[in-house]
Amino acid sequence: MTTLITKVPIGFLSLLLIITIATKAAAGNFYQDFEVTWGDNRAKIFNGGQLLTLSLDRASGSGFRSKNEYLFAKLDMQIKLVPGNSAGTVTTYYLSSLGGTHDEIDFEFLGNLSGDPYILHTNVFTQGKGNREQQFYLWFDPTADFHTYSILWNPHNIIFSVDGTPIREFKNLESRGVPFPKNQPMRLYSSLWNADDWATRGGLVKTDWAHAPFTASYRNFNAPPAQSWMGQSLDSTGLARIHWVQRNYMIYNYCTDLKRFPQGPPLECSLA
Ligand SMILES: *[C@@H]1O[C@H](CO)[C@@H](O)[C@H](O)[C@H]1NC(C)=O
Repeated sequence: MTTLITKVPIGFLSLLLIITIATKAAAGNFYQDFEVTWGDNRAKIFNGGQLLTLSLDRASGSGFRSKNEYLFAKLDMQIKLVPGNSAGTVTTYYLSSLGGTHDEIDFEFLGNLSGDPYILHTNVFTQGKGNREQQFYLWFDPTADFHTYSILWNPHNIIFSVDGTPIREFKNLESRGVPFPKNQPMRLYSSLWNADDWATRGGLVKTDWAHAPFTASYRNFNAPPAQSWMGQSLDSTGLARIHWVQRNYMIYNYCTDLKRFPQGPPLECSLA
């Protein structure tokens, strides 16, 4: 290696160095991109901004939010969820605007007893109205390693993805009378908190505080430039992936919950 490098002309080496620095700068830095909003020192940043952890104890959870506001975005974050007995805990990762008629795009991870599956809960709020829950199991253990959770929000659609696999699509059906978020800028938020009144098996399993503090970890936040995703929607491969996830891992879909919507499901369900 050493001999190889000494033979490389200096100009090439400095070019390499510049490329390395540029790539590093493009990956997110938690000091630059986010601010801790609650939980005091339960939210911690390490490695010069490369890693962030949130923790939850009996007294409080913790959370952070992006300094930037986004009007359309593609956001990727690698998250490693609370390991072991995480029953009763909820880790959120979502975009939201402010106020009574806010828009919101949600990922929520509902913890479980050791070895029992997390639930990935998703929702979309438009103009203050949600009630669009879809829930999934994951095809891996989300506590064993970091995985990438992405939100793509452009004028055509909202796409939720896990490790690049789309799991949910919310199309812009505004022309057919379904509101779509497009005017209110949103911030990215994340938090870890106690929700043992509903999170695990509908609230049956409570948080075991003997295991506190509970900790979730974050790294490699990435917000690529708009030209790479502004026009993006699912192609036939993406649609096939979504169908695979929905067939094998979806455990709740508001669109098929007839008990909840006796007059028929919301409009977007029949148009999608
Ligand atoms: C927890 O595990 C139970 C039993 O396998 C399962 O029914 C439930 O969906 C899992 N997830 C949550 C968050 O309750």
